[in-house]
Amino acid sequence: MQRILLALLMLFVVSGSSRTTLAQQPTAKQIEAGAALYRKVGCFQCHVNEGQGGANGPRLGPNPIPLPRFIQYVRKPAGDMPPYSAKVLSERELGDIYAFLQTRKAPPPVNTIPQLAP
Ligand code: HEC
Repeated sequence: MQRILLALLMLFVVSGSSRTTLAQQPTAKQIEAGAALYRKVGCFQCHVNEGQGGANGPRLGPNPIPLPRFIQYVRKPAGDMPPYSAKVLSERELGDIYAFLQTRKAPPPVNTIPQLAP
């Protein structure tokens, strides 16, 4: 019972904090810090410079998975991705990376690229 209550409490705390984070538009400062971290800790090596994905990792932006899930995944990835502990990346730093990814440009629709148009 105590465990369930604790789990519920944690869920409440996590969803509460994410709501305030998601409600805010990322600031230029966050995006800039996120871009630097994204390069520094090596996300770009698999997810490529603009988070567009490549041979070694999927696309992450401009519509990343919800922030709580994003943080959870980076801490404990399920597949080939290496985990990043809170010692390496704080929650705030992950929020900055998230801001960077959120604000990447969407790719043009395939049918607007002459070489790929049907
Ligand atoms: C060594 C390659 C590698 C590095 C470095 C890496 N990733 Fe990944 N990432 C992957 C792969 C591969 C996947 C696909 C699922 C899996 O195998 O874990 C993935 C999946 C993800 C997902 C889940 C995407 C989804 O749509 O479910 C997120 C979020 C993510 N990575 C974020 C990051 C962030 C942020 C960083 C840097 C802190 C990072 N990754 C660094 C390889 C990498």
